[in-house]
Amino acid sequence: MSQIRHFLDLWRLEGSDLRAILDDAKARKAARLGWPKGRPDADRPADGRTLAMIFEKHSTRTRFSFDAAMRQLGGDVIISNAAEMQLGRGEPIEDTARVLSRMVDAIMIRANYHEDVERLALSATVPVINGLSDKGHPCQILADLMTFEEHRGRVEGKTLAWIGDGNNVCASFIHAAPKLGFRLNIASPAVYHPDLVDLARAQEQQGQVMTTRDPREAVRGADCVITDTWVSMGDTDHDERLDALEPYQVDEKLMELANPDACFLHCLPAHRGEEVTDEVIDGPRSLIWDEAENRIHAQKSILAWCFGHIG
Ligand code: CP
Ligand code: NVA
Repeated sequence: MSQIRHFLDLWRLEGSDLRAILDDAKARKAARLGWPKGRPDADRPADGRTLAMIFEKHSTRTRFSFDAAMRQLGGDVIISNAAEMQLGRGEPIEDTARVLSRMVDAIMIRANYHEDVERLALSATVPVINGLSDKGHPCQILADLMTFEEHRGRVEGKTLAWIGDGNNVCASFIHAAPKLGFRLNIASPAVYHPDLVDLARAQEQQGQVMTTRDPREAVRGADCVITDTWVSMGDTDHDERLDALEPYQVDEKLMELANPDACFLHCLPAHRGEEVTDEVIDGPRSLIWDEAENRIHAQKSILAWCFGHIG
C-alpha cells in the first residue's frame, strides 16, 4: 500500500485521522487569533514546501483558501488553470503527475471527473488533494464540520440534514458520517438521489444515513440543516433541476421544524431564492461566513496531515 498521504475521499480515511485534522485546525485557528492573515504560524509546518494547484473548474474559496493556507503554513503555491497547461491539450494526466512530482511537494486538483483525480494520485509521488470533483468535495466537509463543532460542540451523535441535490458535497457528508459518528438525513427528489454506492458503503461502515423524499422528515430532530446549489458546475439539465428541486428550498418554515438551536450551512456560492431563502442564509442561524473562513484553517491541517505533521 502507498505510504503517500493522498486526501481524495473521506470514506478511505481513518476516523482518527479526520478527528486529528479537525482538532489541529481548531488549535491552529485559536493560536493565531488577531494575527494578520499573511503571517505564518509559529511552527511553519510547510516551510520550504510548494503546493501546485490545478483548476479544471471555476473557484473562489478553494483557490484563495489553499493559497492563504500554504502561506500561513510557511510554504508556497503555484496555481494554474488546466486549460492553460499541456493537460488542456491532451498531455496524459499520468505524465503531468510525474512531472509535477519532481517540482512540487503536493498537488491539489479541482477536476471535472473524479477518475482523473484518482489517475493523478496513482502516478504522483507526492500527496494529491481533491479540491472538488463530480464525486466529492472532502475539504469542504472538514471546514463544515469544524464550523459546526465551533458553534454546537462535537458532531458525534448529532443529526445533520441535507436538503436538495444528492450531489458531490452531499457525497462527502455521506463518506464522513460513519467516520465521525453523526447521523445524516438526506431529502432529495428521486431523480437527484445521492449515489447508491456511497450509501451502501456508509451502511457497511455502520453509518447512520437515512434518505427520504420529504424535507420535513429530514429536518425533524436535526442540529444542522445544509443545502447546496441545485445546479453544480458541469450540470447541463438546468431547467429540469430547478423544477424537480423546487420543493426542497430551505426556508424559515422548514428551519422551524429542526431543533430550536439548529444551524444552517452552505458551501457557497449560493443562489438566494432557489435552494435557500434570504431570511435563512442571512439570518441568525446561518454560519456561512465562519464556514467559508474555516476552509483556510481546515485545509492547513489537511496539508499538515499530508506532510506527515499530524496523525
Ligand atoms: N465552496 C467552494 O468550494 O467554493 P469555490 O467553488 O468558490 O471554490
Ligand atoms: N456542488 C457544487 C459545489 C461548488 C463548491 C458544484 O460542484 O458546483
